Amino acid sequence: MTSPRKILVTSALPYANGPIHLGHLVEYIQTDIWVRFQKMRGHDCRYVCADDTHGTPIMLRAEKEGISPEELIARVHGEHLRDFTGFHIEFDNYYSTHSEETRAHAADIYGRLKDRGLIESRAIEQYFDPVKEMFLPDRFIKGECPKCHAKDQYGDSCEVCGTTYSPTDLINPYSVVSGAAPVRRESVHYFFKLGECAEFLKDWTRSGALQTEAANKLNEWFEAGLSDWDISRDAPYFGFEIPDAPGKYFYVWLDAPIGYMGSFQNLCDRLGLDFAEYWKKDSEAELYHFIGKDILYFHALFWPAMLEHSGFRTPTRIFAHGFLTVNGEKMSKSRGTFITAQSYLEQGLNPEWLRYYYACKLNGTMEDIDLSLEDFVARVNSDLVGKYINIASRTAGFVTKFFDGRLDVPMQLADGEALDFLIDRLRDSAEEISGYYDSRDYNKAIRKIMELADEVNIFVNEKKPWEIAKRDDSYSRGDLRVVCAITLNLFRLLTIYLKPILPRLAEAVEGFLKIPSLTWQDAQTLLPQGHTINDYRHLMTRIDPKQVDALVEANRQSLQATAGQPEPHSQVRHAEHQQHQVQPIAETISIDDFAKVDLRIARIANAEHVEGADKLLKLTLDLGGETRTVFAGIKSAYAPETLIGRLTVMVANLAPRKMKFGLSEGMVLAAGPGGGDIFLLSPDEGAQPGMKVK
Ligand code: MSP
Ligand code: ZN
Repeated sequence: MTSPRKILVTSALPYANGPIHLGHLVEYIQTDIWVRFQKMRGHDCRYVCADDTHGTPIMLRAEKEGISPEELIARVHGEHLRDFTGFHIEFDNYYSTHSEETRAHAADIYGRLKDRGLIESRAIEQYFDPVKEMFLPDRFIKGECPKCHAKDQYGDSCEVCGTTYSPTDLINPYSVVSGAAPVRRESVHYFFKLGECAEFLKDWTRSGALQTEAANKLNEWFEAGLSDWDISRDAPYFGFEIPDAPGKYFYVWLDAPIGYMGSFQNLCDRLGLDFAEYWKKDSEAELYHFIGKDILYFHALFWPAMLEHSGFRTPTRIFAHGFLTVNGEKMSKSRGTFITAQSYLEQGLNPEWLRYYYACKLNGTMEDIDLSLEDFVARVNSDLVGKYINIASRTAGFVTKFFDGRLDVPMQLADGEALDFLIDRLRDSAEEISGYYDSRDYNKAIRKIMELADEVNIFVNEKKPWEIAKRDDSYSRGDLRVVCAITLNLFRLLTIYLKPILPRLAEAVEGFLKIPSLTWQDAQTLLPQGHTINDYRHLMTRIDPKQVDALVEANRQSLQATAGQPEPHSQVRHAEHQQHQVQPIAETISIDDFAKVDLRIARIANAEHVEGADKLLKLTLDLGGETRTVFAGIKSAYAPETLIGRLTVMVANLAPRKMKFGLSEGMVLAAGPGGGDIFLLSPDEGAQPGMKVK
């Protein structure tokens, strides 16, 4: 093997105001598998992470719970680490961005960027909540869409018609925090001059540090032009105060990636490692960041630019993955598919089932990955348990029963048939499989390993040890011993290959085979002659589909319970938005005003996707005599085929609106904050299309 490489690996730092869910776990499991693989190969690999603790949502969340931000982040740190540990994610350090190490590095980097003339300050005008006395991030302002006049739209985009705008364009804006009408106020902000880093970033993009899809994305951003990055926020803000600017704080995304350094610094101080050796310019150590595709901008533009211009090394590679969908749809609290790590473990599901399933689905690209709950059960039961575990369970008993657990490894049967071909085949696959792990093509690794497991099963089926065991002559006993020894050696080889994915299971196998912790190199050896093993105890059970049903039930939440909790992933999650608050009741209207609205029962006669529209479904509504076409922004919550035939309520006398995709002749009524949580109104059974709603 080549000499050990020094490798530092990170996963993105989860926000400290919400629980870890199965979406997050895609990333942490992906990284953990890679790190375990590198360690098994004998490399000096360190894996650090931390909670991302700063920002407005965390500050407001703590306030709402009546505790200090420090108390909140301490509690969540414990919860996150508990969940990660539960899924066998093994960090070398799990720290917090709210730490002295991170503060010191943030101050240092900021100072160096400033010395290089890359920091600029200027006054900007922003919305300010006069009641709460704080500046409002865009996502904390709502109002009426200037385009389609939908109410209660966020300050950056309309979820109904999809228009993007700035909060100044909203009609009748209000603060999500206090409900007050925000006022415009000026304040000095600090900016990082990203535009001046364009040349460097273009070169860096071509240096091979990014996946092709990510590099293409960057080129789009270059073409759009790089604007200065606002890195400061005004008090009140939970974060680090900017050294030379009292009352100004670093924006959470400034210190978040520096948290990678902070966590590693803390590890270095504990273990006596040399921080600079990893982070200095031209360092020979390798640095890898695993991230989701939604935070590419921060990791592929801001972060390398900050590092380069403050005299540090840049990342060796950024590995971006796609987003998790469950049963083909966005995770949703109302459907019970916004599944928390904690609930998965509490329901008694085995974490290695999920690790295995994610590995089956993961590759090195940014494509989204789908957790189909049915497929999850099928793959684990038929492949993992049915193929792999089965190999040991079919042979191990005989070794205990007839040979006192002693294995010998002659490669020949009494009739002279040589059996080493299969051993060689498995051993010769080590490099191919290792290549797949290295390139994060875990799906290919699994496919190869399961192909090998198929061959082993065919071998066992042909040799039929259970039949040989029935014959009591010494030739047969000899053959049984050979078949069992070969099979268990094959099982050991498969275990080596699966170990990065299934570390606990591999440990149990090591216990059963009475061998030290398996490394990748061990694929070139066999169990020693005369080796004795322990009694076989069942290594893994099958999934009962009922367990999965119970898991979904446990995660299903009513709209009521959802209010005030962070939303599942949304593309704009990072714009400091994490909470859905109950909206204030609008101004009083007279009964005459209300009577103007003609609400009707409608049957959804057809529902279909609209080519090119992210949020809209095209509905054909039957009003019991006439049909209407309505474009509704409910695609994120409903698959069209589930809507057909169902009754709902529509505004029948709304002036028709010309939309990009056609004419919309009315509006259907729905509740909820948007995203996966939209609830179409349904009348009780018996209502007839066309009936007036009063
Ligand atoms: N705090 C930032 C990261 C700062 S890194 C310096 C953040 N936190 S997060 O909690 O929202 O997400 C953490 C990681 O989990 C991100 O890489 C994100 O892409 C990933 N995922 C969060 N939800 C996900 C899915 N539904 N699917 C796959 N990955 C997802 O972003
Ligand atoms: Zn709109």
